[in-house]
Amino acid sequence: MAAATICPTSAQSDVILRDQAWWRSAVGYQIYPASFCDSNGDGVGDIPGIIGKLDYLADLGVGFIWLSPVYASPMVDNGYDISDYREINPTFGAMADMDRLIAEARSRRIGIVMDLVVNHTSDQHAWFSSARSDRHSPYRDYYIWREQPPAKASAADIDAAFGGSAWSQDEQSGAWYFHLFAPQQPDLNWDNPALRAEIYAMMNWWLDKGVAGFRMDVIDLIGKQPEAGIVADGPRLHHYLREMHEATLTGRDALTVGETWSATPANAPLYSAPERHEVSMVFQFSHVTQFWDDKLGKWKPRPIDWPKLKSTFATWQHALHNCGWNALFWGNHDLPRAVSRYGEEGLHRVASAKALATVLHLMEGTPYIYQGEEIGMTNAGFTRIDQYRDVETLNFHRIQLADGVAEAEFLEGARANSRDNARTPMQWSSRPHADFTTGSPWIAVNRNYTHLNVERDRADPDGVFQRYQKLIALRRDHAIIRHGDFRLLAADHASLFAYERRLGAQRLLVVANLSHQAVMLPLAEIGTVQGRDLLTDRPVSTLADGGLGPFGVFAILSEDSISASG
Ligand code: GLC
Repeated sequence: MAAATICPTSAQSDVILRDQAWWRSAVGYQIYPASFCDSNGDGVGDIPGIIGKLDYLADLGVGFIWLSPVYASPMVDNGYDISDYREINPTFGAMADMDRLIAEARSRRIGIVMDLVVNHTSDQHAWFSSARSDRHSPYRDYYIWREQPPAKASAADIDAAFGGSAWSQDEQSGAWYFHLFAPQQPDLNWDNPALRAEIYAMMNWWLDKGVAGFRMDVIDLIGKQPEAGIVADGPRLHHYLREMHEATLTGRDALTVGETWSATPANAPLYSAPERHEVSMVFQFSHVTQFWDDKLGKWKPRPIDWPKLKSTFATWQHALHNCGWNALFWGNHDLPRAVSRYGEEGLHRVASAKALATVLHLMEGTPYIYQGEEIGMTNAGFTRIDQYRDVETLNFHRIQLADGVAEAEFLEGARANSRDNARTPMQWSSRPHADFTTGSPWIAVNRNYTHLNVERDRADPDGVFQRYQKLIALRRDHAIIRHGDFRLLAADHASLFAYERRLGAQRLLVVANLSHQAVMLPLAEIGTVQGRDLLTDRPVSTLADGGLGPFGVFAILSEDSISASG
């Protein structure tokens, strides 16, 4: 179904009503619990540690926290393998800590958005234990089984995302079960109505506890039909999402964001057009995957091509304007650090972090900040495989070396794109272990913590934190940022990211130089550069020399006298 069949109805939606959805003016902050703040010295972050940093997050101004999984889990995939949806992993704390986190966050007007991992469970979940030990268990059909492994190259012969086949033999029952990730993460069978009812009951249980919503892990996979070779975007996906909404979200003011690697500008409105009652918005990854190698994927990223990247953003801005809703992000716990990937780690680290933040946050959508991004944290800089902890990185190291890839080549790819780049501990100060823990951290702290840390960045009035704080406040205060039209300017320029937003007679002109060389502004394409720069709060009448320095950026708000005077 094309977007065109959905958008016209949405366009009639009342703009005021849209404005009232709290998540349209809020900014989210993702916490990866193991790496945020450790309160008990065991080297792993925890919930009391997060509670201790809520004032910091309130100061930043975020409206909600997306909390990566804290549920009971054997931690094969750091919590994305859940063994009990209604228990907290003791490493992270107890349910009482979770309740306190929800209450303490709420008293600071911050919602807690739980990660909802329901494409699969852990193989240690009671459902799977029962399913594998007894073919007649009512839980058997909660999972996906076949008696024989699929024939090579048949439709069902599907690869798992973390390497190897998506079918593994269960030694207890002798049958083969389906898992799109690690073998310890068996996929749930969403075609089973009893399973769906259990999931909805669990979601209601959390919502009744006061959580503000869910980030839905790989949710575009739940409509899969493995026997037909269909994994993402299956025929019943949207039916299930609407049923889920009806069973859990109706009448609640919750935020839901689906993680959908398969979403396209054409089908994203199916998820996020308000009147379809599915989810509030989706994370889509075209700006990420367009620079992956055709063969080696993320392990061999191509350099960023700004004209291509800008055009991707513009396409998404247009596709969802007055129709669905965008989620805006540079990074998360699966992706490299924003400055390392799109900006510059060296001399211009601070300026590039600020420029990237600015161009992202002034588009239409709900921006997400990944922990540490607000101080411009960089990739891990690991040089040896034994420094990595991530199951995906370790699996592909084994697989690619067996395929003949050289160790050095793999390590280079991992240094650019391993998920562990974003998982090193949060750098709070220059004290030992960056003040993340008093113990021994589960994964090494980035060595640059002595000069790159929260304490130091916040002491700098031109620091990265201050810019994020400003951008969050601007979104809240300016309707043009939330709802204005979007138009890409100087689309072919190799390093300038320039666009305008318009709402009524207002024009917001955003221009960033995403290179380490000064550039002349193509004024013919950009138009008048006159008004008030929202970033500095100073009037701008002319730009000194018509140029913009390395990673320079401005966001000029003006009243459009031409259209106002006709
Ligand atoms: C999502 C998560 C990732 C996890 C995977 C399987 O992509 O973001 O961290 O490994 O799903 O749950």
